[in-house]
Amino acid sequence: MEHCLLSKLKAQPLWVLALFSVGSFSLLRFFLAFLNWVYVNFLRPGKNLKKYGSWALVTGPTDGIGKGFAFQLARKGLNLVLVGRNSEKLKDVSDSICAKYAKTQIKTVVVDFSGDLDDGVSRIREAIEGLDVGILINNVGVSYPYARYFHELDEELLKNLIKVNVEATTKVTQAVLGGMLKRKKGAIVNIGSGAAIVIPSDPLYAVYAATKAYIDQFSRCLYVEYKNSGIDVQCQVPLYVATKMASIRRSSFFVPSAEGYAQAALRWIGYEPRCTPYWPHTLLWALANSLPESIVDSWRLGFSLNIRKRGQLKDSSKKE
Ligand SMILES: NC(=O)c1ccc[n+]([C@@H]2O[C@H](COP(=O)([O-])OP(=O)(O)OC[C@H]3O[C@@H](n4cnc5c(N)ncnc54)[C@H](OP(=O)(O)O)[C@@H]3O)[C@@H](O)[C@H]2O)c1
Repeated sequence: MEHCLLSKLKAQPLWVLALFSVGSFSLLRFFLAFLNWVYVNFLRPGKNLKKYGSWALVTGPTDGIGKGFAFQLARKGLNLVLVGRNSEKLKDVSDSICAKYAKTQIKTVVVDFSGDLDDGVSRIREAIEGLDVGILINNVGVSYPYARYFHELDEELLKNLIKVNVEATTKVTQAVLGGMLKRKKGAIVNIGSGAAIVIPSDPLYAVYAATKAYIDQFSRCLYVEYKNSGIDVQCQVPLYVATKMASIRRSSFFVPSAEGYAQAALRWIGYEPRCTPYWPHTLLWALANSLPESIVDSWRLGFSLNIRKRGQLKDSSKKE
C-alpha cells in the first residue's frame, strides 16, 4: 500500500506534489498544536507554588478574581499579604480564609490605588519587609461603569483607569521585585484582558483595553528581562468571568465563576508568558482569531452600543 501511494505520488506533476507537501505539513502542525493544547490544559501538573516562597501578595482581593486567587493560594498552603482599599472587606475576606484554612497567616494593607499611590506603595514595602514573598498577583483593575465613547469619559474615570490599571501594577511590581531578585526566585502574574489581546478592538472601552495592552507588553518584556534571574512573569488573559466588574452574576460554560477561574489560573503560574487559563476561553480565542477582524470589530461595536444604551437607561431612571 505504501509502495502504491509512493509510486502514485511520483507520477504526479510538481505542483500537485508541492500542494500535497504544504497540506501534509499544515495537518501535522495542526495535530501537534492540538496535542499541545490537550497537554497544557488538562494533563500538565501545576508548579509547586511554595517553591517560590511562603508568601503571596494579591491586590484587589476583596471581590471577584482577586478574592478567588486569595482562597486558592491559601488552599495551596501559602501565607497572604492582601492589599485592598476597604479595611472591613479585607477583614471579612481574611476571616473567611482563616476559618477555612486555619494555618494561613494573613497580613492586610489598606491602599486605595486611585488615591495616594506613592504612600500606598511605601506601606506595601513596609508590610513585606522580611517576608519571602514568592508570588505577586497584580489583579486590581477598574473598567467603565458601562460602555461609552472616548469623548464621553470624565476626568475622574480617565485618571482612575490609568492610575489603577497601569501605575499601580507597575509600582507594586517594583516594590515586590527587589526581594524576589535577592532570593533569585518568584512568580509575577499580571491580569490582562481579552479586550486587548483576543479581540482586535474593544470600541467604547478604548482606555480600558489600552491599559490592558500596556499590561500585556509590560509583562512580556519583564518575562524576558528576568527569566534568567529565576523570576517567572506572566500575563493572564481572562475573557468574561462572572464578577461585579463584568456585571455577570451567574457562571456558565464560557463564563467561569471567580473561584473557577482562579483554580484554573494557579495551574498556569510559572509557565507561558501569556496564557488564558480557563480552557473554554481558549475556544473563544481560537474562534476570534479565525474570523476576519472587520467582522469581530462590528460585532463588538454592536455589543458595546447595546451595553451603553442599557447603562444610559439605568442612569436616567436613577435621576428620575
Ligand atoms: N471579570 C471579567 O470578566 C474580567 C475579564 C478580563 C479581565 N479582568 C481583570 O481581572 C481583574 C479583576 O477583575 P474583577 O472582575 O475581579 O473585578 P471586581 O470584581 O470589580 O474586583 C476588583 C477588585 O479590585 C478592588 N479595587 C478596585 N478599585 C480599587 C482601588 N482603587 N484600590 C484598591 N482596590 C481596588 C476591588 O475592591 P472592592 O471590593 O473594595 O470594590 C476588588 O477587590 C481586573 O484587572 C480586570 O481588569 C476581568
